[in-house]
Amino acid sequence: MTSAIKTELLVDDQAGIARAAELLRAGALVSFPTETVYGLGGDATNDRAVARIFEAKGRPSFNPLIVHLPSMEAVSDYAVLEGVAHDLAMAFWPGPLTLVLPLKPGGPLSHLVSAGLPTVAIRVPEHPLAQKLLEAAGRPVAAPSANPSGRISPSTAEHVMDGLSGKIEAVLDGGPCAVGVESTIVGIDPIPVLLRPGGLPAEALEEAIRAPLARRQESETINAPGQLTSHYAPNAKMRLNVETLHSTERLLGFGHVEADLNLSPAGDLVEAAANLFAMLHQMDAEGDAPIAVSPIPDHGLGRAINDRLRRAAAPRDN
Ligand code: TXA
Ligand code: MG
Repeated sequence: MTSAIKTELLVDDQAGIARAAELLRAGALVSFPTETVYGLGGDATNDRAVARIFEAKGRPSFNPLIVHLPSMEAVSDYAVLEGVAHDLAMAFWPGPLTLVLPLKPGGPLSHLVSAGLPTVAIRVPEHPLAQKLLEAAGRPVAAPSANPSGRISPSTAEHVMDGLSGKIEAVLDGGPCAVGVESTIVGIDPIPVLLRPGGLPAEALEEAIRAPLARRQESETINAPGQLTSHYAPNAKMRLNVETLHSTERLLGFGHVEADLNLSPAGDLVEAAANLFAMLHQMDAEGDAPIAVSPIPDHGLGRAINDRLRRAAAPRDN
C-alpha cells in the first residue's frame, strides 16, 4: 500500500497532456497547475482514486474536495447551478472562484468527494493547461492543493515534487502559478456566503451581486465540533470499535469479520476509505436499526476514517 511510486514529471505538450489524461482515467493521481495553485487531481467519480488523494496528502480527516470541470456547461451532470450561483459562474468562470452547489441527486460523483454532504464544491479553472487536461480526461477531477497536509500550497511543479514525489503517479509541469493563493469559495445559503477568501477578491464578488457578501469561516461549516450536524450522519444510532455485536445491530465490518457490509474484507484502509460514505448511505437507506462498526486501525487513512466515524456517531439533536 505504501510502496513508493515512481512519479513521472510530464511536460506541457500534446504527449504530456495525453499521458496525464490517460493516468487520470485509469484512477491514478496527477498533479496539475491551475492559475491559483497546483492541484492533486484524481477522478472524482472513482472512490478509490479519491481515497488515495487523502492518503497522499496525509490528511487526518476527510474535508470535502473541490471538483474541477472544463466548462460551466459540464456542471449540470454533477450539481445544480441556478439563480445567483449561475450569475456568479457567468461572471467569474473560468477563474479562481469555487461555488458550493447542491449535488445532483443520483449523480456519478464519489460520496467521498463531498464527504457525504448534499453539496459539492465546483470550480472551472482558467489555466490553459488545466483546461486542456480536463477536456482530455473527460472526467470531473477532484483536487485539493498538491501539498502534504499542514505544508504550504505549491505554486510550482518543484514544490509538488518536493512534497509528493513517490506518492502520486505524475506531475504535469506548467511553470509557476499566476495567482499563488487558493480560489475564493462561495456558498449559497440562500444568499451568497464567503466561505474562504482567496484569489478572487471579495470586492469583485460584491460588485457583481451588488450587495455585501455574508461571511462565514469554512471551518465553522466543515470542521468545528459544534457544527457536527453539518456533516453527513446516518439516522441510525452508531457504536464504534465494536468487538461483540448486540442483537439488534447491523455490522459495518472491517477485515475478516462476518458483516452486513464490509468496508474492506482484506483490511485495506484505502479500500475502506473509498467505501465509507457510500456504505453509510446504503445502510441509512436500508433502515434505522443501530449500526455497529468494527475497530479500524488508527494509522494512515484509518485516522481520517475514525475521525469521520466519530463525527457520524456523535450525539445530535436533530
Ligand atoms: O485554488 C484552489 O481552490 C485549489 C486548486 C487546486 O483548485 N484547491 C483547493 O482545494 O484549495 P482544497 O481541498 O484545499 O480546499 C477545499 C475546501 C475545503 O477545505 C472546504 O473548506 C471547501 O473547500 N469545501 C469543499 N466542499 C465543500 C462543501 N460541500 N461545503 C462547504 N465547503 C466545501
Ligand atoms: Mg489546501
